[in-house]
Amino acid sequence: MAPTVRYLTSLLGILVTVIGSTSASEADFSGKQDIYYLNHTDTSLFEFEKLQLTDKVLAKLSEHQLSQQSAISFARLPQHVWTRQANGSYPKCKTYPGDADWPSDASWRLFDVLLGRRLIKTVPEASLCYPEWGQYSAAACQSLTAGWNNSTLSSRGGACRIENPTSIRSIIFQGMTCMPPNYTASFLGNKVSCTVGGFPEYSVNVTNIAQIQIAVNIARELNLRLVIKNTGHDFGAKSTGKGALNIWTHYLKDAEYYPEYKTDNYTGPAFKLGAGIQVVDANRLAKERGVTLIGGEGITVGMIGGYIQGGGHSPLTSIYGMAADHVLSIQVVTADGRFVTANAKTNSDLFWALRGGGAGTFGVVTSITVKAFPKIKVTTMRYNVTTGGNFTQDKFWEMQRAYVDGFEKYADLGYYSYYRIRHVGTEIFHDMTSMVAPNTTEAEFRKTMGPLFEKWAELGVPYQPIIREYDNYSDAWYEGFPQEVWTWAMRQASRFFPRDVISDPKKRATVMDTIRGVFDAGSHILQFNIRNPPGTAAIDNAVNPAWRDVLMFAIMFVTWNVTDPAPFVEQFSRNLTYEWNPRWKALTPGSGTYMSESDYIEPNWQESFHGSKYPKLLSIKKRWDPQGVFYATNAVGSEEWQLGELIMGHLPSQNSKLCRK
Ligand SMILES: Cc1cc2nc3c(=O)[nH]c(=O)nc-3n(C[C@H](O)[C@H](O)[C@H](O)COP(=O)(O)OP(=O)(O)OC[C@H]3O[C@@H](n4cnc5c(N)ncnc54)[C@H](O)[C@@H]3O)c2cc1C
Ligand SMILES: *[C@@H]1O[C@H](CO)[C@@H](O)[C@H](O)[C@H]1NC(C)=O
Ligand SMILES: *[C@@H]1O[C@H](CO)[C@@H](O)[C@H](O)[C@H]1NC(C)=O
Ligand SMILES: *[C@@H]1O[C@H](CO)[C@@H](O)[C@H](O)[C@H]1NC(C)=O
Ligand SMILES: *[C@@H]1O[C@H](CO)[C@@H](O)[C@H](O)[C@H]1NC(C)=O
Ligand SMILES: *[C@@H]1O[C@H](CO)[C@@H](O)[C@H](O)[C@H]1NC(C)=O
Ligand SMILES: *[C@@H]1O[C@H](CO)[C@@H](O)[C@H](O)[C@H]1NC(C)=O
Ligand SMILES: *[C@@H]1O[C@H](CO)[C@@H](O)[C@H](O)[C@H]1NC(C)=O
Ligand SMILES: *[C@@H]1O[C@H](CO)[C@@H](O)[C@H](O)[C@H]1NC(C)=O
Ligand SMILES: *[C@@H]1O[C@H](CO)[C@@H](O)[C@H](O)[C@H]1NC(C)=O
Ligand SMILES: *[C@@H]1O[C@H](CO)[C@@H](O)[C@H](O)[C@H]1NC(C)=O
Ligand SMILES: *[C@@H]1O[C@H](CO)[C@@H](O)[C@H](O)[C@H]1NC(C)=O
Ligand SMILES: *[C@@H]1O[C@H](CO)[C@@H](O)[C@H](O)[C@H]1NC(C)=O
Repeated sequence: MAPTVRYLTSLLGILVTVIGSTSASEADFSGKQDIYYLNHTDTSLFEFEKLQLTDKVLAKLSEHQLSQQSAISFARLPQHVWTRQANGSYPKCKTYPGDADWPSDASWRLFDVLLGRRLIKTVPEASLCYPEWGQYSAAACQSLTAGWNNSTLSSRGGACRIENPTSIRSIIFQGMTCMPPNYTASFLGNKVSCTVGGFPEYSVNVTNIAQIQIAVNIARELNLRLVIKNTGHDFGAKSTGKGALNIWTHYLKDAEYYPEYKTDNYTGPAFKLGAGIQVVDANRLAKERGVTLIGGEGITVGMIGGYIQGGGHSPLTSIYGMAADHVLSIQVVTADGRFVTANAKTNSDLFWALRGGGAGTFGVVTSITVKAFPKIKVTTMRYNVTTGGNFTQDKFWEMQRAYVDGFEKYADLGYYSYYRIRHVGTEIFHDMTSMVAPNTTEAEFRKTMGPLFEKWAELGVPYQPIIREYDNYSDAWYEGFPQEVWTWAMRQASRFFPRDVISDPKKRATVMDTIRGVFDAGSHILQFNIRNPPGTAAIDNAVNPAWRDVLMFAIMFVTWNVTDPAPFVEQFSRNLTYEWNPRWKALTPGSGTYMSESDYIEPNWQESFHGSKYPKLLSIKKRWDPQGVFYATNAVGSEEWQLGELIMGHLPSQNSKLCRK
């Protein structure tokens, strides 16, 4: 018997014994919660978290004297590891289809049984445009094509694309191997064809902890690439990978409200949120309970995945700090397959790392308990302007300078803004997606902004602001941040601009010249006016220290047409990293940027994303995942690995093998 089949059959034998089923087909986990129940002192578990493989279960296995117990046991490193070769070193590359050790179809079927039939073989979303995949439909392909830029596109019978186990936004890094025919990329030399490419081979549509543990154990023992996908929003395509087994967390939607949650340091309202909760869910739950939750602006973004673990920002950051600052407890499956609690008292190193150190590399988070804040009134402002006629581009940039002159004042009042400056033909289109003034009435807001509005009137800025007061944040957020576009033919880079740079008139003027310079060279710009409130720098978590004195966060991004030739796209992309972002970096020495909205090939990313916290993060990664079970591009510990192929000579392709350096 091949090692893989032997491994899986032994595993199956164990599980069938444990859960008392008589045949493999009955090995369904539902209704067997009593066997796996584990109690925690600080919080009750969600139902889905109660079904788990515990040390107790494994002890039971010894009673049955199963010699292959180590196959599923939580790795007791370093002795037993199956993936070690005779000489004790790990295999250089992960195992891929076509390799001798790749599980056979029969093995995958066994695996599916172990998982209670939750395994899904990848069928790319756009395969319905390709007859050879056997589900061709001209009409469905037409509607998929028309809505390809829509993050919640209804492609088939009401299912939305976030409900596809492998669809991701940053499809360029996947290799664009299965696009709607109208969007195949000439710059990648793609034929009109559909292959799995850089998508995972299989996904596990997880609904309990045991499934996650089994998937982690199998990926570790069989040396498979493992990815975690939640919504697929990640700009760095960190939720995809060729040949991978994908743990898909989208349906872990449980949520529980605690009116009075207690820890040594906190007594107050809190929400425990499952890994699949999205920003839109969180804000709905908060409204129902008459409280406020700290989440991002993007409506379909995952709240508990890349966002909070990556140290994400919020329209409420200027008054409350980062979402990760308000985490009370985390449930997580680690690389050894154990399900653990991480909080201030238990596994506190992991707790520290998961609050801002980045997702996808320390373990599979299944839920996070976060503080909830009192309901507050919020005033928002939206507007847009387009240059033309007597509103010249120079006038536009004067408008921008006048606005940025007030950044310190606005942010210190707790305001936030998110706005875009884009090329439309030869003109500039600028939209304030929303300026958000928490805990502020419309009258107070108008008073604060009065001097700016006067200045803009003098400049003849043709804007018609919509200013509105809401009695709660959820409603303000819902109206202020509409459905986003799933932009995919793009590349971006970004930088924080700290307070000392923005508050100095001379440096500020240079910053504005440099931003304009990058815009005029062909990039679009996204900007945030945001601060971290006093005291947050002292919070002991893994949030990038450079966040703490930021006053402006700026993103440059280039977009292109799929028909554009490779030399142009490549030069555009290289300019971003090697020409334009260095100009911003030169003005902000020692600062950094936000990992989840950064350059895919950020040079010296350890410093930019983590600053002085990197060495500690790396040591925690080595402690909890010494074998490198978890990998994501530019995540902590990823410097030990490399992807074998580059797109356009400079972008690591997720459609290539992942190997140790
Ligand atoms: C339209 C849009 C708006 C955005 N708005 C904001 C914003 O306002 N503020 C902000 O800070 N960011 C924002 N972002 C960035 C966003 O936070 C990141 O893209 C983030 O990575 C998305 O996380 P996800 O879990 O939804 O996505 P995914 O792509 O599914 O996952 C992202 C990463 O997290 C890992 N991961 C996911 N779930 C888990 C889990 N349960 N355990 C461990 N690892 C996990 C994945 O492996 C991957 O590495 C926005 C992005 C977009 C596209
Ligand atoms: C878990 O806690 C509950 C309530 O405190 C208790 O009733 C139950 O017996 C405990 N279960 C186990 C397995 O310890
Ligand atoms: C261990 O063995 C593997 C396979 O036989 C080989 O590729 C590798 O180089 C060896 N490693 C060391 C450190 O000798
Ligand atoms: C592709 O583009 C052509 C030309 O614009 C259009 O006629 C056709 O309907 C598009 N196909 C799909 C599937 O949308
Ligand atoms: C995206 O698709 C959803 C579902 O089909 C639809 O409700 C929404 O209006 C679309 N958004 C855009 C911007 O087209
Ligand atoms: C994933 O599981 C959920 C919950 O059981 C189910 O509603 C959904 O249809 C499944 N999706 C796929 C693609 O299997
Ligand atoms: C409580 O806060 C103190 C200081 O902020 C910190 O050192 C300690 O670890 C915290 N303890 C818990 C249980 O949160
Ligand atoms: C720009 O603002 C105007 C006036 O408020 C509004 O009607 C219009 O929809 C906005 N356009 C865009 C593209 O946001
Ligand atoms: C909101 O404003 C009130 C009064 O102006 C103040 O007492 C309260 O602390 C503020 N809340 C927050 C969260 O800033
Ligand atoms: C620009 O032109 C418009 C209409 O033509 C006029 O109302 C406005 O005052 C002009 N603004 C400036 C600054 O000249
Ligand atoms: C979708 O995005 C692509 C790439 O940015 C662009 O070329 C195309 O025109 C967009 N399609 C629609 C329908 O907006
Ligand atoms: C894409 O093509 C359209 C129409 O041909 C053109 O207006 C636009 O400038 C092109 N975009 C880029 C980034 O080249
Ligand atoms: C890239 O930058 C170089 C140097 O500034 C410039 O000459 C070239 O036009 C740029 N190309 C693109 C596509 O941005």
